[in-house]
Amino acid sequence: MTHTPPAPRRGWASRWTFVLAATGSAVGLGNIWKFPYITGENGGGAFVLVYLACILLVGIPVMIAEILLGRAGRRNPIDSMRTLAATSGVHPFWQIIGISGVVAGLMILSFYSVIAGWALDYIPRTASGSLAGANAAAVADAFAGLQADGRGQLIWHTAFIAMTVIIIAFGVSRGIGGTARTLMPVLFVLLLLLLGYSLAYGDFAHAVRFLFAADFSRLSASAVLIALGHAFFTLSLGMGAIMAYGAYMPPQTSIAGTALIIAALDTAVALVAGLAIFPLVFAHQLAPAAGPGLMFVTLPIAFADMTGGLYIGTAFFLLLSIAALTSAISLLEPGVAWLSERGRLGRLPASLLLGGIAWLGGIACIHSGTVFNALDFTATNILLPTGGLLIALFAGWRLRPSLLQAELGDLPPGLFRLWCLLARVIAPLGVGLVLLSGSGLLRYLWPPAG
Ligand code: PHE
Repeated sequence: MTHTPPAPRRGWASRWTFVLAATGSAVGLGNIWKFPYITGENGGGAFVLVYLACILLVGIPVMIAEILLGRAGRRNPIDSMRTLAATSGVHPFWQIIGISGVVAGLMILSFYSVIAGWALDYIPRTASGSLAGANAAAVADAFAGLQADGRGQLIWHTAFIAMTVIIIAFGVSRGIGGTARTLMPVLFVLLLLLLGYSLAYGDFAHAVRFLFAADFSRLSASAVLIALGHAFFTLSLGMGAIMAYGAYMPPQTSIAGTALIIAALDTAVALVAGLAIFPLVFAHQLAPAAGPGLMFVTLPIAFADMTGGLYIGTAFFLLLSIAALTSAISLLEPGVAWLSERGRLGRLPASLLLGGIAWLGGIACIHSGTVFNALDFTATNILLPTGGLLIALFAGWRLRPSLLQAELGDLPPGLFRLWCLLARVIAPLGVGLVLLSGSGLLRYLWPPAG
């Protein structure tokens, strides 16, 4: 059977729109909130080095695989995987990659939208000055109050899902592309503004030591696995978001070059976010607490007591909300593309239906920490790594060679062979380890010392 490429779909306005949209997907709560504190907890600079190695050895090869499958399939992740399996002469089982991706996207969006809702709530809360001059206990009380306020959280969660649904309903070019072109520059400017403030007024030297002093004695086996798992989450890999975006990528654009740019921007944002946040934390003699507390308690305490904290705090929560929004749309797109390309539903009803499911999931998260953690754990530690593993294996071992050649033909032979090695062997091995550790099997087989 010969492969006749389907007619190209209406796509991104330009290569840069694709880069901005994919970077928008990658840069999210994972970069600004999670990366700084897991770095601090896991040995600072040593952890950063391992994380960078994970991005290079696993993240970038899997991202290349995911974009190329999307562009070769030219459809939503489920139908792309089905056609690619058929043209490659392998079992249709591989469409499970698309199916699990749609499910993972809805699961992640459920709890992601609740955190994004907190960020939205903190924009007016900070801008109105209600936290200005408050002491640490009052700031902690304010966050505890929000967490106990089901109705307040519901309003912001609903607003966030509604924005996501509206953008997705507008389609790829106007909705996703337009949002990325408008909001990503704002995000970069806000981040640089915060960095500038921290350079001027924060304890920058302390933050640099905290983030970059390589203390290999604090680096455990589990830290390596955390770094690898985070590489997936932060690059939006393993659930079809990047595949769905790649389906609209122009045929002549280099996939490897583009993946490198996206990964570099994502990593730069994570590092700069750390360099913007920690100087403020240290300048106010605060402990770099882990979890939601870092964003919603520790930082607001610093904002409450610094010059211009009202503006800097508002800018920070605006930045966080924008980062979350451009990621959330990529969580919804695979499923909406699937429903609407099947022709049963238009984009608006499809967005409303799937957004509605995530909305219900978010309500469950607001009322139950157990549901919240179960959705996060299952999607982040099980579905994303499994999806990434299957994507690397399919692209590396199963995809028809002529298709692979058509998508990665621009690579010099040496780099192409390097990608093959990484996608076929190194990435699957690495991801296999994350999966084992996520399921607790590794800890059972190889208990941590001490
Ligand atoms: N990459 C996003 C972040 O860092 C999260 C995300 C994961 C988005 C998977 C889409 C798909 O916050």
